[in-house]
Amino acid sequence: MSLTQSTPFQLNQWWADAVIYQIYPRSFSDADSNGVGDLQGVRRQLPYLEQLGVDAIWLSPFYLSPQADAGYDVADYRVVDPLFGDMNDFDGMLADAHSMGIRVIVDLVPNHTSDNHEWFREALTAAPGSEARERYMFRDGSGENGELPPNNWQSIFGGDAWTQVDDDQWYLHLFDTRQPDLNWENPEVREEMESVLRFWLDRGVDGFRIDVAHGLIKADGLPDWDTKSSMVEGSGNTKAPPYFDQDEVHEIYRSWNKVLSAYDGDRMLVAEAWVEPAERLFRYVRPDEMQQAFNFGFLLAGWDAARMASSVEESLEEAGKVRAPATWVLSNHDTVRHSTRYGLLDPTTFPKGISAANEQPDEDLGLARGRAAALTMLALPGSAYIYQGDELGLPEHTTLDASVRQDPAFLRTNGEEIGRDGCRVPIPWTADAPGYGFSAGAPDSVSPWLPQPDSFARYAADQQVGVEGSTHDLYRKALSVRAERKLGQGTLTWTNVHAPSDGVLSYRNGGLTVLVNTGTDAVELPQGAGVVLVSQPDAISNGSLQPNGAVWLV
Ligand code: GLC
Repeated sequence: MSLTQSTPFQLNQWWADAVIYQIYPRSFSDADSNGVGDLQGVRRQLPYLEQLGVDAIWLSPFYLSPQADAGYDVADYRVVDPLFGDMNDFDGMLADAHSMGIRVIVDLVPNHTSDNHEWFREALTAAPGSEARERYMFRDGSGENGELPPNNWQSIFGGDAWTQVDDDQWYLHLFDTRQPDLNWENPEVREEMESVLRFWLDRGVDGFRIDVAHGLIKADGLPDWDTKSSMVEGSGNTKAPPYFDQDEVHEIYRSWNKVLSAYDGDRMLVAEAWVEPAERLFRYVRPDEMQQAFNFGFLLAGWDAARMASSVEESLEEAGKVRAPATWVLSNHDTVRHSTRYGLLDPTTFPKGISAANEQPDEDLGLARGRAAALTMLALPGSAYIYQGDELGLPEHTTLDASVRQDPAFLRTNGEEIGRDGCRVPIPWTADAPGYGFSAGAPDSVSPWLPQPDSFARYAADQQVGVEGSTHDLYRKALSVRAERKLGQGTLTWTNVHAPSDGVLSYRNGGLTVLVNTGTDAVELPQGAGVVLVSQPDAISNGSLQPNGAVWLV
């Protein structure tokens, strides 16, 4: 382990050390009281985010969409879906955020459109080989009469990755049938997506989160691939499938880099790329490509000091080689929330959803570890993402009824894969209001689009904001110390007093010593150390950091 590691960067761009808060609009805050969150809801909670101390927000898709994959199936990239409001709502929200010094990142979904997109509707009525079909991945079938799919690729959500149309051709969809893959070899597709980038840049957005950034280019000849791939888990397989992480994909991001650099104000791109090993991931953030790539290796490390340490070390090393910041994340709208994962018997496992039939987490233990993991992440050099509700210590809904689940991954696997609904449950704002205040002023007949568990009362924002010792209070203080000490721009030095193999992670940054205890024995604090922040009031006793705790010391 090399002793000192930093984000080796000319850190004058805002995003290099930013704390960015992910908003999943349908589940954040519902202003028009129909049970689904919206842009006015986001707007009215901006003061809450300002007070929390985040630098930016990233909004999951709010564009026109039949919502077959909760908006990751876009029918028109330039229109706000009425479910979320209209363009005035967007502009108003953007202006308010900017006036508070909060930047705004929007989601771009370039790998596929919705089947409702006008291009795809045109393609369906056009003939095989036509220009309209060339925008997508149409192929003739295999088998004697073309009755079999063109190859054996499986959808990430389960089932075949091909669907046959009336004239017997097949089209590729790495995700749901209703999410046809675009043909990125076609210049028209490239031009259109660059025009979409410009459309939102002109409106004033500060950046884009690029959905499935590693998926746009498919290997020549679409060769068979025998392993089913999953987005959200480490495959442990460093050879990418023929539909992910192809070298030619980088040309696209070089071109987008040029689009962004024509604008003022350090606009940025962050890659959602589930790519291994770290060396391959950091190719997406070479100086002439994107600015950030989510560090899913850290997310997948789980509650385990040795795994966290090696992920941090590898990331900082690879980030250094390409002069990019590391970008940390613990949870998002595709993963079981980390405070729930950490409450499982094996806190390094990564289930694809949890139902009542599965092992249930120890909620208090998971929360204690989740808070400690926040202190672990927020003192690291680089940028950090918070998923809405992380700052409340919100757990996954682990007992959602099958009848209310909406994730296409659940539906396409007949429930074999539980899916992602459990981390998408609407945020509790007020403990004693119907729907925990998610839809303010809604009549009794309106309930949140996914039911909230009873336990959400204790996590509600109004129970935590301004309450000493709450999870919200911990996050707010951590963000404030992080900003004051410029931890995101700092240099990490491993202290090596304790070994990660003993369950203890320990590093210095910005004059702080960070101590994290994932082991089973208490760890003595250094003589004379002063406590700046501790993950839980009872995490320190008898001068020692207890298991499942973390502390920032001076
Ligand atoms: C990304 C999104 C996920 C979506 C998928 C298909 O992984 O984060 O929510 O289902 O892409 O667009």
